[in-house]
Amino acid sequence: MMRKLIAGNWKMNGSLAANQALLSGIHDGLSAALGGKHADVAVCVPVIYVSQVQQLVHNMGVALGVQDVSVHAQGAYTGETSAAMLKDFGVRYAIVGHSERRQYHGETDEQVALKAKSALSSGITPIVCVGETLAEREAGQTEHVVKRQLAAVIHTNGHCISEIVLAYEPVWAIGTGKTATPQEAQSVHAVLRAQLQAASEHAQRVKILYGGSMNAANASDLLAQADIDGGLIGGAALKPADFLTIIAAAAR
Ligand code: 13P
Repeated sequence: MMRKLIAGNWKMNGSLAANQALLSGIHDGLSAALGGKHADVAVCVPVIYVSQVQQLVHNMGVALGVQDVSVHAQGAYTGETSAAMLKDFGVRYAIVGHSERRQYHGETDEQVALKAKSALSSGITPIVCVGETLAEREAGQTEHVVKRQLAAVIHTNGHCISEIVLAYEPVWAIGTGKTATPQEAQSVHAVLRAQLQAASEHAQRVKILYGGSMNAANASDLLAQADIDGGLIGGAALKPADFLTIIAAAAR
């Protein structure tokens, strides 16, 4: 069975002191949470803290990730960070196309696809986020929206699509405490899996994470679904005990 991935998305939270406390809590509880079983664990941190967290997670069994990456390799792009720069600091994952970036920074499906490509070209695994808004769900558009978002990434990345991690994050579930039911999530994951399968013979190895108010109480039911291969965790990733409980639920 595929190893599950639990990735924390810290969003714009933290400080030198808070990061140290959070990671030391995770460090202290990680082997007990795994209980001799396995799960991949990552933290996607604000880019300014990449160097600090690189040191802190060294030898800890926690991979380093970020929350965005430039589509450009280098040059006059004020404020941006290239994939090669991130790679320099041991970054393993980059979230791309998070709904907060689509919403507040106007990122299009095409830009998200290019960000995934830019990450892959430097050996960083993009965690590509897709998901519908409440209005889109209520209009019966869920499948159409997530398929359109994923299609752009497949179109731009070709056979490399099997190297991504995909995250289904219904926008209405993010930070709201409203989680998709395990069945609602699974049915969208199955649609995404089928779309990946049509694009690549290696689709089975793509991890499809669920994100949106996943927490210590609901993680195990979500992670029990056939096509839910892990979680992308916001708020609950900022509390060591909650994050560790989710990791324990993912350990196989
Ligand atoms: P919450 O877990 O806080 O709902 O955030 C989910 C998310 O957006 C992870 O990327």
